[in-house]
Amino acid sequence: MTANWWRTAVIYQIYPKSFADASGDGIGDIAGIRTRLAYLADLGVDAIWVSPWYRSPDRDGGYDVEDFRQIDPRFGDVAEVEALIRDAHTLGLRVIADIVPNHVSDQHPWFRAALATAPGSAEWSLFHAVAGRGVGRAEPPNDWLSVFGGSAWDPILDAAGQPTGFWYLHLFDATQPDLNWEHPAVRAEFEDILRFWFDRGLDGFRIDVATSLIKAPGYPDEHRAAGVEAGLSLEVVEGQPQWNRPGVHDIWRAWRRVADQYNPPRVFVGEVWADSPAGLAAYLRPDELHTVFNFDYMMCPWDADRLRAVVDASLSTAGLVGAPATWVLESHDKPRVRSRFALDAAGMDINDRSGPGDDALGVLRGRAATLFMLGLPGSAYLYQGQELGLREVWELAAGVRQDPAFARTHGADGLRDGCRVPIPWTDEEPGCGFGPAGMSWLPMPSDWGAMSVARQERSAAGVLALVRRALRLRRSEAALRSAAMTWVAHEDPAVLVLRRAGIGAGDIVVAMNLGAAPARVEGSEVLAASTAGIRTADGGVLLPPNTAVWLRG
Ligand code: GLC
Repeated sequence: MTANWWRTAVIYQIYPKSFADASGDGIGDIAGIRTRLAYLADLGVDAIWVSPWYRSPDRDGGYDVEDFRQIDPRFGDVAEVEALIRDAHTLGLRVIADIVPNHVSDQHPWFRAALATAPGSAEWSLFHAVAGRGVGRAEPPNDWLSVFGGSAWDPILDAAGQPTGFWYLHLFDATQPDLNWEHPAVRAEFEDILRFWFDRGLDGFRIDVATSLIKAPGYPDEHRAAGVEAGLSLEVVEGQPQWNRPGVHDIWRAWRRVADQYNPPRVFVGEVWADSPAGLAAYLRPDELHTVFNFDYMMCPWDADRLRAVVDASLSTAGLVGAPATWVLESHDKPRVRSRFALDAAGMDINDRSGPGDDALGVLRGRAATLFMLGLPGSAYLYQGQELGLREVWELAAGVRQDPAFARTHGADGLRDGCRVPIPWTDEEPGCGFGPAGMSWLPMPSDWGAMSVARQERSAAGVLALVRRALRLRRSEAALRSAAMTWVAHEDPAVLVLRRAGIGAGDIVVAMNLGAAPARVEGSEVLAASTAGIRTADGGVLLPPNTAVWLRG
């Protein structure tokens, strides 16, 4: 693959805690990932993105980093990661890691040093330490809310535990203080961290919350609409003083210069929630980030008109600046696609957690949605277990949940553990082959083994076989790597049909039926279908509802 591998790559997200456990402590680790690289190469993905693996108190699934140059001892060490990168490269897989520049853990040496001083110190200048309002400065400096619920400010106490009248900012958990990116030392430190990992062969970074590093001067109130009680979703971003400030782009330009000094150049994918297409495209300018996540696509309900509009908007937005579009349906932050699409149309908001809904319907739609996504031009993301068709585990008991937002919102939100249940590799109980000792840090439901890799290896009808087939076709068919697509008109507005133009072997038609009636789609040969039994007759197929297909055009 060329230096432009990222423009068409399928990138597999690994949540290290839940992927594979080699040590037997019930927590996934780097050695576990190494044992499964052959599986991933065989699956046919081009790269892995590993969620944070750094030393961390794990108050937010590792997104609270204590030391960016150390691997969490529960996961392994730097030498093990170097070996992982080597092994992956030998198998033709690229490796992307997560980097979390907006905040650090409260156990990070910089924050511990700040706590040992009074606000106004050089140590505190690396964070946002701001005088409170009201009598005795006893109220937070402004009305900003934590994304995880409650105020975004906590009081800074003195050595005797008394309030100082100053507050520190945390857009996420109180254990995740925001860094002050106006400070040159913060910028220099992160550029050095980039080089530390790029020098070890890392191919790129996924940038956590790439929109929030610069805050509006003077920390103005955001004046939320009445009724919005918590900053619970990153989706609510329009016009807010803490997101998408123009100055953030200078940071990405500087990072891009670092990445471009390497051969091959290293790449960035940003977690960007923007308030307009132009705002999103700004992050994708040729001297900034290579790609960003497509949250509009991820959040789109099971609705043909809306899906088509999102595809068009995604392509045109990225096209404004010559960037490839990306596609994503699942991550470690949102309910599994199968379970999301099991909810009825009215409840099809990605933050609707009223499942389980109609799981049989969800199974069909989840398979169709994944196949359709992999047929779009650009780069696509698969979250671990999506290739197995895993469901959201809605039924986790409150006592085992670890998402910090669960406690901060008294259970109203923070249900992200349901997509983080460890991967079932076999159907052996207990533990489904996740680790040698049968332990797993979150309990596995009783249907987990039936969806395991081992079980699906024995079946041609599983989601695993479907994803493998699709990824093989993405490699063998030039049409699926082309940058463009065109819509093909269909008489039923609930049926989406698109054409990927090929050379030689010809075009490929990708179709999905989001309606309630079977629909005919023209094509000469079925290359992949989300349900069994779809056959061509008279130069076309009859596509059942909730089904997707790839046809030779
Ligand atoms: C991103 C991550 C999420 C994390 C948050 C704070 O949204 O995807 O898991 O909790 O940032 O770092």
